[in-house]
Amino acid sequence: MAEHITLIYAGKEFRLPLVTGSEGEKAIDISLLRRDTGLITLDPGYANTGSCKSAITFVDGEKGILRYRGIPVEQLAERSTFKETAYLLINGELPPQKELTRFSVLLNDHSLVHEDMKTFYQNFPRSSHPMGILSAMVNALRSFYPELQDLDEETTITVTRLLSKVRTMAAMSHKISRGHTVVYPRSDLTYCANFLNMMFDSPVKPYEIDPDVVKALNVFLILHADHEQNCSTAAVRVVGSARVNLYAAISAGIAALWGPLHGGANQAVIETLGEIARSGNLHQMIARAKDRRNPYRLMGFGHRVYKTFDPRARIMKRMAHVLLDKLNLSDPLLDVARELEEIALKDDFFIEHHLYPNVDFYSGIVLKAIGIPINMFTVLFAIGRLPGWIAQWKESMDDPEWKLCRPRQVYSGPHERPYVPIEER
Ligand code: ACO
Repeated sequence: MAEHITLIYAGKEFRLPLVTGSEGEKAIDISLLRRDTGLITLDPGYANTGSCKSAITFVDGEKGILRYRGIPVEQLAERSTFKETAYLLINGELPPQKELTRFSVLLNDHSLVHEDMKTFYQNFPRSSHPMGILSAMVNALRSFYPELQDLDEETTITVTRLLSKVRTMAAMSHKISRGHTVVYPRSDLTYCANFLNMMFDSPVKPYEIDPDVVKALNVFLILHADHEQNCSTAAVRVVGSARVNLYAAISAGIAALWGPLHGGANQAVIETLGEIARSGNLHQMIARAKDRRNPYRLMGFGHRVYKTFDPRARIMKRMAHVLLDKLNLSDPLLDVARELEEIALKDDFFIEHHLYPNVDFYSGIVLKAIGIPINMFTVLFAIGRLPGWIAQWKESMDDPEWKLCRPRQVYSGPHERPYVPIEER
C-alpha cells in the first residue's frame, strides 16, 4: 500500500499520501487537504512547502550537495562550459557535438539586439541601476520580437534569443552608462569571451581575451546557473503560471534577484568588505550582525537551504585565489574576506545559527578581478541564472499537474463593519 500519514482533526482521521522524490526525500501531498478537511496550511516564506515536482536540480542543504540534472556542480565547474551547462539544464541531457554546434550557431544568430532598443537605454537616467534596466528591457523584448508560440521550434528560438540577447543587453547597458560606443557581438568568439569583449573592448584600447579570465567567467556562470525553487525562480514560475510570455516571467525573476537578500547580496558583500577594509571595524560588523535588536545582517552569510556549507562558495573561494594568482593581482578585500570568514566560523552565534559563507561571499572578488564594475555584479548573476529560469519555466509549462499559482491566506483583519461617510469619520 502507498505510504501515507494520518491526520486526526475534529475526531476524524484523514489519510494524506506521502510522495517520495528520486533521492528519497519525502513530502506530504496536501493537494486535497482543503477539500477533505476545510483546512489550509500556513507556512510563511514557504520554508516547508514544495511548490512542484522538478527533475532539474537537486540540492541537499545538510550535506552541501548541488547537482544539475544529476551531475555534480563540481564536475561541471571543472569540465564544462556555461553554454553546455545551459543546454543541459534546458534540455535535460549533455549535448552531443552536433547539437552543441547547432546551439552555438543559434546563439550567434540571435546575439544582435534590435537597434531601436538602444534608444530605450539612452533614455534611462544615468543613475539607474542596471538590474532595473535589465528587467525592463527583457520585458520590452516581447514588443520587439514575435510572441512565443506553442511550436517546439519557436520555443527553441525564443529560449536561444533570450540567452544570447540578455548577454548583449547587459554589456550594452554597461557601455551606454559610461557614455562609450557599444561593442557588437562577434561570431568567432565563444559565449563568455564574446561577453567580455562586448564589455571591455574599445576603439582606443582593444581588449585582449585571457583564457584564464574566460574560464573564471564560465565557472562563475555555471555555479549560478540554477538552484531549484529559490526566490527568483519561484517568481518566474508564479508569474509564468498566469501564462504570460517567457520574457515577462524572466523579467519578474530579474526583479526578484535584485534584492539584497538574494542575488543583490554579491554587491552588498563587496561593499561590506570595502567598508571593513577602509575602517578596520571588522569586529564591530560581526557584533552588529549578532545583535538581535539590530536588523543588520552579515551579507554573504547564511542560506535558506545550506546549513553546513554551500558547495558553490568553496569553488568560488578557490577560484578567487587561483585567478588573483594567475593575473598577478592582490586584493585587500580577499584578506578581509578570509579573516571575516575565519572569525565567523569560530563564533558561537554563527555556529548555532548554521551560518556559513554562501556563493555570494567570494563571487564579488572574482568579478572584481575580471574587471566587472560593482553595480553589474547582480547582472552577471542574472546572466548565469537565466538557463535555470528558462528550464524551470519550460518544465512548469509542460507539467501535467500544472496549476495557476494562487496561495491562500489566514485572514487576520477586522470583522465586517459598515462604510462610514467622510463627514462622520
Ligand atoms: N547575519 C546575521 N544573522 C543572520 C544572517 C546573517 N547573514 N542570516 C541569518 N541570520 C540569523 C537571523 O537573524 C535569524 O536569527 P534568530 O533565529 O536568532 O532570529 C536566523 O539566523 C535565521 O534567519 P532567517 O532569516 O530565518 O533564515 P533564512 O533561512 O530565512 O535566511 C537568508 C536566509 C535570507 C539568505 C539569510 O541568511 C540572510 O539574510 N543572509 C544575508 C544575505 C545573503 O547573503 N543573501 C544571499 C543568499 S544566497 C543567494 O541568494 C544566491
